[in-house]
Amino acid sequence: MYLGVDYYPDYWPEELMEEDLDGIVGLGANMVRIGEFAWHRMEPVDGQFDFSFFDGVIRKLKSKGLAVMFGTPTATFPAWLAKKHPSVLSKDEYGRPRAFGGRRQYCFNSAEYRRYAARITAKLVRHYRDESAIVAWQVDNEFGHEGSDMCYCEQCHTAFQRFLERKFEGDIGALNETYGTIFWGQTYNRFDEIPIPTATITTHNPALRLDWARFRSYSLNSFAKEMAAIVRENKGAHQTVTTNVSGGFFDKWFDHAEQAEAFDFMSYDNYPVWGGLAEPITPAHIALGHDFNRGLKDKNFWIVEELMGAQGHDVIGYLPRPGQAKMWSMQAFAHGCTDMLYFCWRAMNRGAEQFCMGIVDHDNRRGSKYEEVRAVFREITPYGEALQSEIRSDIAVLYDYDNIWSWRIQRQSEAFDFTKELLRLYTPFHSLNCHIDVIPATRDFSKYKVLLVPALQIIDRELGERLARFASEGGTVVFSFRTGIRDRDNNLHFGMEMPGYVADMCGLTIHAGEALANGRREPIVSADSTTSGVCEVWRDLLRPTTAETLYRHDSVFFPEAAVTRNVYGNGVVYYIGGGVDSDILNEIARSIVKTRQIWHIESEPGVEVYARNAGNKQIWFVLNHTDKVRTFKGRRLEPYASFVVPAEEI
Ligand code: GAL
Repeated sequence: MYLGVDYYPDYWPEELMEEDLDGIVGLGANMVRIGEFAWHRMEPVDGQFDFSFFDGVIRKLKSKGLAVMFGTPTATFPAWLAKKHPSVLSKDEYGRPRAFGGRRQYCFNSAEYRRYAARITAKLVRHYRDESAIVAWQVDNEFGHEGSDMCYCEQCHTAFQRFLERKFEGDIGALNETYGTIFWGQTYNRFDEIPIPTATITTHNPALRLDWARFRSYSLNSFAKEMAAIVRENKGAHQTVTTNVSGGFFDKWFDHAEQAEAFDFMSYDNYPVWGGLAEPITPAHIALGHDFNRGLKDKNFWIVEELMGAQGHDVIGYLPRPGQAKMWSMQAFAHGCTDMLYFCWRAMNRGAEQFCMGIVDHDNRRGSKYEEVRAVFREITPYGEALQSEIRSDIAVLYDYDNIWSWRIQRQSEAFDFTKELLRLYTPFHSLNCHIDVIPATRDFSKYKVLLVPALQIIDRELGERLARFASEGGTVVFSFRTGIRDRDNNLHFGMEMPGYVADMCGLTIHAGEALANGRREPIVSADSTTSGVCEVWRDLLRPTTAETLYRHDSVFFPEAAVTRNVYGNGVVYYIGGGVDSDILNEIARSIVKTRQIWHIESEPGVEVYARNAGNKQIWFVLNHTDKVRTFKGRRLEPYASFVVPAEEI
């Protein structure tokens, strides 16, 4: 098991290194990650390579018994490259080049950038292929983060036209037909007439925009795959290959699971609070990050940036309370993290990340954060083997990037946010401490008992049939609103009753729908009029065919059903026709886990309990996410307490 820190010896005077490394070893660490922003240090001038600084660093690390994850440095390129080849710089929506000075401002379709990035990556990895201390390569750093997945330059424009030409096999008529360019007279004669969706009046064609999103994903992933392949060709047999996924993964223009195929394992950067956030994101939201990353390869994962101090570039976020960052670390281990590195050893006092606080602050004293990390390493080490165990879930959340991009392209309701809608279905089961996988809808989902399917607009015939088979063979499916209204091209189904290919299994038709703008909450009431609730973001007006109405809209004009349940074959299908409140969804979740006999355990609000197998025993992670004293099975939990305990001891 690797435990350690992200360390930037290149930022500090060399004489600090000895003391730093003793401090790092004193944590109980056995690994550091280095190098991911150090291109200039390795190639200070075009074509002149010099790895002597890192040779020295690695010698020292080895003498302290530390293993190394080395980051290939392509997320920040040298100033000389931008000066010499301005075409490497990406452009914003208005065609303005992004200035040298931040980071990741490179274009994935820049032939020059790819040439230089390939060269430094190959040289670096080849230089260290026999280095026993380097056991893993991290490729680039947080692909696509901070808006770097979007570029509107001329190179991207031409590459997009070629991408479409390939997709439509040179048949411009087929593109016109698919996009419906007859509308507003946008018919194209040639592929080189096709625009990219830069600023215009009103809006671009939705089918074109979805293809643009797919093209962005293709651009980023082909760069990522090329860099991963270069690392593979040049590395030593003992070295593995990974990359680190940033938060906000549903707000990115690339398909993460497709990218994950290029890597041996995925790594995640876990920041429950960042920048101007006054409060950390919710416990369920943090858990979702882990479950999503585990789902990328259906495999446990690493965390290579775990937060210990407050973070922010220009605006600084919430300061984790004593024990809280430790509790987040333990939560990560619970959800499938096997190896962990903290960001970072020490915050830099100069440069853009002066306020991204590490384990050691600018006073360079080892204080309470240092002790907190030591406690994590000490407490988790005995469970190294148990953390390798596979997490088995009976519940899966399905997502599909085409669908997520379709929502980003047309939000329909100003209150819509995909992550929130996913969490709306995920959180009630998380509160019951169930194991949940978060996987692409293309994965085989037949082994699960329950599928949660949030706001899945795009359902083609094939997916519709797979879902129907799952339900008819005994599965439980929970859909939310706007289900099944679109085809793969991002057009609306024509001549079909909604929800399209899943109407039959849902046992209903959607009569109409209404967007509920921010702040609008509409009442719903149970079929027997005993329980009331509310709907936000959207409401579908449902007319059951075979389904039973659980809740209906409490409206004179719209008396239609809001939440339904349909018995379909041997299974059951729920349709949640709107942004329904958590009380109602908690109730539904509770009834599903009981009837489907899914492992769960009741805990006080904000107390998370996650069960893992350790050989033939079970261990429980117990986490108090709150600033209050809580109890679990008679045990007192201090604010932000976290511990691991064998199941039989509690
Ligand atoms: C991550 C990034 C790191 C550092 C950190 C600061 O997104 O990978 O390089 O910027 O955030 O919190």
